[in-house]
Amino acid sequence: MNIAVIGTGYVGLTSGVCFAELGNQVICADIDEDKVNRLNQGIIPIYEPGLSELVVKNKCLNRIVFTTDAHYAIIQSDVIIIAVGTPSLPDGNVDLSGVHAVAKAIGQSINSYKVIVNKSTVPVGTADEVKRIIKQNMTDKSIEFDVASVPEFLKEGSAIEDFFHTDRVIIGIDSPRAEQILQELHKPLKTTVQTTDIRSAELIKYASNSFLAMKISFINEIANIAELVGADINEIAAGVGLDTRIGSKFLKAGIGFGGACFPKDTKGLLKIAENKGITFKLLQEVINVNKNQYQKVISKLEEAVDDLNAATIAMLGISFKPNTDDIREAPSLNIIKKLIAKYPAMKLKVYDPAAMELARKVLGDSVSYCQSIEEAVTKSDAMMIVTEWEEIVSFGLEKYKELLKRPIIVDGRNCFIPDEAEQLGISYYSIGRIS
Ligand code: UGA
Repeated sequence: MNIAVIGTGYVGLTSGVCFAELGNQVICADIDEDKVNRLNQGIIPIYEPGLSELVVKNKCLNRIVFTTDAHYAIIQSDVIIIAVGTPSLPDGNVDLSGVHAVAKAIGQSINSYKVIVNKSTVPVGTADEVKRIIKQNMTDKSIEFDVASVPEFLKEGSAIEDFFHTDRVIIGIDSPRAEQILQELHKPLKTTVQTTDIRSAELIKYASNSFLAMKISFINEIANIAELVGADINEIAAGVGLDTRIGSKFLKAGIGFGGACFPKDTKGLLKIAENKGITFKLLQEVINVNKNQYQKVISKLEEAVDDLNAATIAMLGISFKPNTDDIREAPSLNIIKKLIAKYPAMKLKVYDPAAMELARKVLGDSVSYCQSIEEAVTKSDAMMIVTEWEEIVSFGLEKYKELLKRPIIVDGRNCFIPDEAEQLGISYYSIGRIS
């Protein structure tokens, strides 16, 4: 199939290259000329395991091209995927200007029947709006097209794996012709395909992300209780997760959810409800719990180190989760900002396996950047684990103990077993467990 993907952010680029890998002919269009040039040289703008190899491979096979020419991408394709950003506006509403601009471009360029697929996370009713804008901008009103909602469920850090082994594909559509094309497109994935109406598909995305965010806030609250009553959150999550009605995934207590999706989509759903006169109190609490959770590492650090203003502290992990360089809404940023404001004389040494460049852009000179775990930890008065990168976990307690000036570890991601740390003489503080 000939596919155009408009927007080469994380969703557009990953889906574009994965559809190419399935044998389709893909044209990815983006307005960012520099990005397009780099992609054409095989340089990938984001850190995502396996993505670079797939782009290079499919470029060599001429199954994917990158262009700034959206018109060309549109006229060459049968299916057009809209994958542009939908950030939050200051009032909590979703900024749809990118989606609307693409709809206008499609309307202006459309030359034959197309299926327009919305993959960006958008409020309910956006597909209707896209349809209206396309129609409004068409010169030849007799050309037929359909608009569908096929939300994306990829996770950063495992996006390629998630694409090829997805639990489901949701196709929101109101036309048998488009449905058949989209069924065909997704057939090689050999997964459950749910076809539904467009508005339900749009809401499924928000409901899924908000439900997962709720699981995280719920387990974090249980962790906070567990600490006070002397229970162990890892044991609790394991026990609770054995119930297949609940499931074991997304029950890892820590310092709260970050990233480009959960914070934005929970706020987005809250606003969608509010615009219809509903106060989604449960979701508001999910957000409230998350707002405070990052503070856990700060209070534990304060408990462990008496004079933080005179201390050197190592912070391991800046990205919002492992295997990505994405620091959008990362809990690390809140932790750093708060620590710097409260303890201006503290020396904060940071290290992340992939996010150093982006961190430097955001944090400037406010912290010291280290090239390795060793450099960050050596002679530090204490260390914090903020992101559970494999490199950080496998470094091992013994080596941390050996390098730290004082053996104090504040672990926001429960990477180690408290008893093992204790046996090594480490003062170990984690989330929802007694150290
Ligand atoms: C999330 C969803 O999981 C994807 O299904 C969805 O497609 C994507 O948003 C999106 O809307 O594009 P992502 O934000 O990439 O994916 O990452 P997650 O693995 O979901 O993690 C989100 C945050 O929750 C991270 O900060 C992570 O550390 C935290 N988390 C996750 C926990 O604190 N505990 C857990 O058990 C799981």
